[in-house]
Amino acid sequence: MRVVSTSSLPIDLVGQITAALPGTIVDVPAHGHVGLAGVSLADADALICLLLDKIDAHALAAAPSLRVVANCAVGVDNIDLVAAAGANVAVTNTPDVLTEATAEFAFTLMLAVARRLGEGERLVRSGTWGGWALDQLLGVELHGKTLGILGFGRIGQALARRALGFGMRVIYADPHQVSADGTERVTIDQLFLRADVLSLHCPLTPETRRVVDATRLATMKPTAILVNTARGDIVDEGALIDALTAGRLFGAGLDVFVGEPRIEPRLYGCPRLVLAPHIGSATTEARTSMAQLCADAVIAVLSGRRPGNLVTRIP
Ligand code: GLV
Repeated sequence: MRVVSTSSLPIDLVGQITAALPGTIVDVPAHGHVGLAGVSLADADALICLLLDKIDAHALAAAPSLRVVANCAVGVDNIDLVAAAGANVAVTNTPDVLTEATAEFAFTLMLAVARRLGEGERLVRSGTWGGWALDQLLGVELHGKTLGILGFGRIGQALARRALGFGMRVIYADPHQVSADGTERVTIDQLFLRADVLSLHCPLTPETRRVVDATRLATMKPTAILVNTARGDIVDEGALIDALTAGRLFGAGLDVFVGEPRIEPRLYGCPRLVLAPHIGSATTEARTSMAQLCADAVIAVLSGRRPGNLVTRIP
């Protein structure tokens, strides 16, 4: 059997796979991400990949022996799940282990935007800071404000717990009612109207693609903050740029982008925008656990067992 990874991993993948499945060949790059172009899928039984790797019908056709794709991410929008099911390929992801890290990062962006940390950092580094001033870089307090959460799954709920600790009110919009003390479920329209901070935590699906569009942005308070640690395509980036440029929002924090890693150049010029390079789950703890879940899933499927975190049916 052959296991292929498009990226180096912070675990001993070769040791773990060969201990569980003696004789298995494991191709894992020594450093970084080589992508699908850098691996041979022709006789691969298992693939470990990143959210950058597009696993579509074309990629699956090049991998006739494939039994499992272990996506080292919780989002699976990079994978054609219908094509995978059609090709009898199990798909797994890495939920839970990145929940706290991602919620912490969404909170980091909320605070950074509210307190204008990006502008402050740039000012100090510019060498032109003139000293403390009463009206310098005035931000907004989160205490007493309303956090709106779009998508109230694991990460949304973890963010809510933090916000409640900060004395915020928490409202959410989600297809499902979730019982979480101190939170209120509202319609998506109400969410945009009422939120002082709106944080996105829904998966990217045909229903959520560009759900944050010009019309909805126009209903937000001009003092509101938008935070996106989910997927770039949930937001109409052009409409967000227009809103920020026109001062129709207080600010925004983006960890994800349309067409990343390419960044729409107009974003660089947006005032009150904090930019991050898709690092929501980037803690040593989370990333190590994510890699481990991928190894576990591969070993389970190739041993004839049902893996945890199965996204599609197992053949
Ligand atoms: C990261 O964005 C993930 O989906 O895990």
